[in-house]
Amino acid sequence: MDAKDMGRDLEKVLVTEEEINARLAELGARIDADYAGRDLLIVGVLKGAVMVMADLARVLHSPVSMDWMAVSSYGAGTTSSGVVRILKDLETDIKDRDVLIVEDVIDSGLTLSWLVGNLKSRGPSSVEVCTMVRKPLAFDVDLDVKYIGFDLPNEFIVGYGLDYAEKYRNLPFIGTLAPHVYEE
Ligand code: IMP
Ligand code: MG
Repeated sequence: MDAKDMGRDLEKVLVTEEEINARLAELGARIDADYAGRDLLIVGVLKGAVMVMADLARVLHSPVSMDWMAVSSYGAGTTSSGVVRILKDLETDIKDRDVLIVEDVIDSGLTLSWLVGNLKSRGPSSVEVCTMVRKPLAFDVDLDVKYIGFDLPNEFIVGYGLDYAEKYRNLPFIGTLAPHVYEE
């Protein structure tokens, strides 16, 4: 799916496919250097992180292991509450492992700070976070995010794994939807 397929539904492109790829190459080089000689496990948070995981894994120069978690956060409507339930847990025992959580977006940061705490309780050597997008609300939580793709303003975004009502995850760029889409 591309901008042409969106017709009037696309408001604007915030981050192009080229910008995403260039940034991933930079983050990949840093991650390669930081984990040189170590056995890294990257953990994607379903479903949003599917695209970042696939592209990040392929720019890395070491044979990383990949695993997945799915979590749901209970909240009123579209806001995250920080009360989290595990829908799908890791298949990997992370005791004494170096773990890098890969996320699509950090908005309130509540889901992620819960997840970091949960994984840290399992006795890993290290837990770090890589996110494609960080939004300004995330500054309010005490959360150390080592690898950040883009700091974007507080708007609802879709594409590159991010959905609105389960759609638009398969756009190759990150953008906003025209207001009429939300009214339908
Ligand atoms: P949190 O508020 O940081 O806990 O984010 C929880 C989840 O809300 C994220 O993992 C995304 O799935 C979703 N989310 C937050 N902001 C957006 C957005 O702009 N577009 C699509 N999904 C979002
Ligand atoms: Mg997510």
